[in-house]
Order: sequence, then C-alpha cells, then structure tokens
Amino acid sequence: MLNFFKKNKQAWEPDRLPRHIAIIMDGNGRWAAKRALPRTAGHAAGAETFRRVATYCKDIGIEYLTVYAFSTENWKRPQSEVGSIMQLLEKYLIEALEKMERDKVKMKFLGDVSVLSPKLRALISETESLSEKFDGVQVNICLNYGGRDEILRAATHYALDYKDGTAPQKLDEETFSKYMYSSGLPDPDLIIRPSGEMRSSNFLLWQSAYSEFYFTDVLWPDFSATELDRAIIAYQTRERRYGGIKK
Ligand code: IPE
Ligand code: IPE
Ligand code: MG
Repeated sequence: MLNFFKKNKQAWEPDRLPRHIAIIMDGNGRWAAKRALPRTAGHAAGAETFRRVATYCKDIGIEYLTVYAFSTENWKRPQSEVGSIMQLLEKYLIEALEKMERDKVKMKFLGDVSVLSPKLRALISETESLSEKFDGVQVNICLNYGGRDEILRAATHYALDYKDGTAPQKLDEETFSKYMYSSGLPDPDLIIRPSGEMRSSNFLLWQSAYSEFYFTDVLWPDFSATELDRAIIAYQTRERRYGGIKK
C-alpha cells in the first residue's frame, strides 16, 4: 500500500475508504470473444480477477466486498455455459477451502442456493461455516441472486412470521432489512460495474438506494487493483447527500 502512495501523486485517502464495495462482474463473454476464445475462458479469467481484487480489498482494509456472480436471470443462458460457470464455482470453492487458513477471508453467499447441485451446496455451507471465525474482510458472493427475488422472499417470510395477525401496524426499513439476504450488512457505499453497461441488472435493488455508482468500459477479466483505485478515487470526489443539502 505504501508503494502505491509513493508512486502515485493522485491516490485515494486511506481514512475515507468505502466500507462496503459491490461489483457486478460483467464482460467475461466479450473478453473471450475478443480473443476468439470460448465464453467459458472468459469466465475462468473472470474468476482469477475476482481472486486478485478480493485480495487487494483485504490488503487495503475494505470491510465488505460483495460480488454478483450469477443472477436469477442467468439461467436463460445455454445449459453448457451455466454448467461451466457452476463448475468454475466448485473449483473456486475447493481452492478457497484449501487456502482458507492462509487467506482468512470470511465468506457468505447471497441468493437462493437451494436449487444448486448438492455438491455446490455442501461446498457453500462448508465455506460459510469454516470462515465464520475470520473477522477481517467479508466477501459476499451473490449466486442465483436477484434483487426482486430477494424483496419478494423477504415479504413472504415477513408475512409468514406474522400470519397469526400480530404484525406491527407499520413495517419499518430496519425490520424489513433483516429479512433480506444481506441482513446484518451495511448498504454498499460504492457499486462498480465494468464492461460499459450502465444498468443494475437486478443487483441489490433495496440496498443500493444511496450507493454511489461507478461505471467503466474495462471488461471484468481486465479489471485490476489499479482500476479499483480509480473507482475509489472517483468515489471520494462524490458528495453523498442522502436527500439532504450540502453541509
Ligand atoms: C458476467 O459476464 C458473468 C455472468 C453473468 C455469469 P458475461 O458472461 O455476462 O459477459 P458478457 O456481458 O457476455 O460480455
Ligand atoms: C449481470 O450481468 C449479472 C452478473 C454479472 C452476474 P448480465 O450480463 O447477466 O446482465 P445483462 O444481461 O447484461 O443485463
Ligand atoms: Mg454480461
């Protein structure tokens, strides 16, 4: 980190880092197409980028990193592509488990994982329970995640909890947030979307109410620590007003 400050005049301020960064890891397919490679090669390269970026976030002291790995809409893709993404996830988790004691990263999964393969579900629960004890950076992987699905699920669970008719008159944000997959997490301060698309694609709809967005044309497999630095620097120029007025 020190080297970064020596080499770069324009750097982010360490005392104003976003606590929670979220990333829509997009552009793997286009990255592969540009190289005349199969889309799977793009997903494999994207997984490596995720590893590097997560390590960098840990090194600079980001508390929470949430990444969008597979959406509730991504099932529309050809079965072969979905299958290879799931295989890459398995591989990633097996490696993460092997390196867990060294990396010390707390890992959580947000999304409906109940429909995933038994092997993947077992890896997910092992990763979550074994990494529970770590208290440095927390990495959340959104898998079969959709913002609308999350809100519907929260509403359903809330209704079920009060089906005896004892629900309070008014449902407040804090209570409802506890029904989200993200329960207990602070809202993301900064949401990054690479690959040139400027939409949320159903990512963290509830939680992003006051997040700062950063878009870049860089494709996810080409994303790097330097790109993350750029996003953080941009974030630090923003004025967050939350509907109020300038102080
Ligand atoms: C993101 O990259 C990975 C997933 C959605 C699983 P894409 O596969 O969407 O890459 P592009 O957008 O086609 O380039
Ligand atoms: C969003 O990317 C989902 C993930 C990165 C996991 P998509 O590639 O699925 O989004 P659209 O289709 O371009 O909106
Ligand atoms: Mg895409």
